[in-house]
Amino acid sequence: MTGSPELRPLGETLGTEALGIDLSRPLDDATFGWIERAFAEHPVLVFRNQNLGPAELATFGRRFGGPRIHSLVKYRHSEYPEVSWLTNVDADGKVDWFGVKRATDWHTDSPYDDDLPRLAILHAKEVPAAKGGTMFADMRAAYDTLPEAMKQRLARLVGLHGRGDGPAGERLYNGDLERQTDRDYAEKAHPAIRIHPVTGRPLLFVNPVHCHGFVGMDKDEAWPLIEELAAHSTQERFVYYHSWQVGDVLMWDEAATMHRGAGDYEPRERRIMLRTIVYPN
Ligand code: SIN
Repeated sequence: MTGSPELRPLGETLGTEALGIDLSRPLDDATFGWIERAFAEHPVLVFRNQNLGPAELATFGRRFGGPRIHSLVKYRHSEYPEVSWLTNVDADGKVDWFGVKRATDWHTDSPYDDDLPRLAILHAKEVPAAKGGTMFADMRAAYDTLPEAMKQRLARLVGLHGRGDGPAGERLYNGDLERQTDRDYAEKAHPAIRIHPVTGRPLLFVNPVHCHGFVGMDKDEAWPLIEELAAHSTQERFVYYHSWQVGDVLMWDEAATMHRGAGDYEPRERRIMLRTIVYPN
């Protein structure tokens, strides 16, 4: 490591810049250890002015665990299966309308997968002139600020997670997701409160896109509860809006945060990023 990297806060609750690291160069163990320690405390970490190709992004992701092929077939990178595209531009250069609406409500990634991802990384290649940010909610703070009675209620609940069949998922996709995958995903059950595997902190783990119920609870009771928890978690005081610059590499903790595309930009402006999602080894 040449010189010491530094941290600089971006938002009140989340969002921290890591300064002084060039991710295109092989990461020595000291720098990697520094990133791991910083990431445990700052679950949305941003490296500015990077220029990574898909192979380098996959290599960076692999330091943290096992990157995996994305469930949305169309967006997989043809040469590097561990990397996918987040794009609003079709192969013929026209607006990809699914790409525009994709992921624009609150979620954590892939809770319907066989195991839960650890983190995801986006690398901005082209960004709109205005807006087009990604929003992150602090699920540590969301848990900490729940009323005691709600904490006790949730401690007994197990959430049921599917592809996009929670209340916000139905509003957003209206069944549109199923045509985009090459396999079926069975519903997965996860406790409504998780303990962070690194920090040991309790986290609220209910998101309104994928979580569509709780074990033993009717939909009439479950959906209002999911919506109530989403409203609680995404209060302004818990949310960071990341305004993208070309070259940003942003990694987020899939347990400690929820996220969404802000969906607030002019769709005819290009918004193209590389993405990788990493699972624990
Ligand atoms: C995502 O959920 O991975 C994408 C968020 C975004 O489009 O900003």
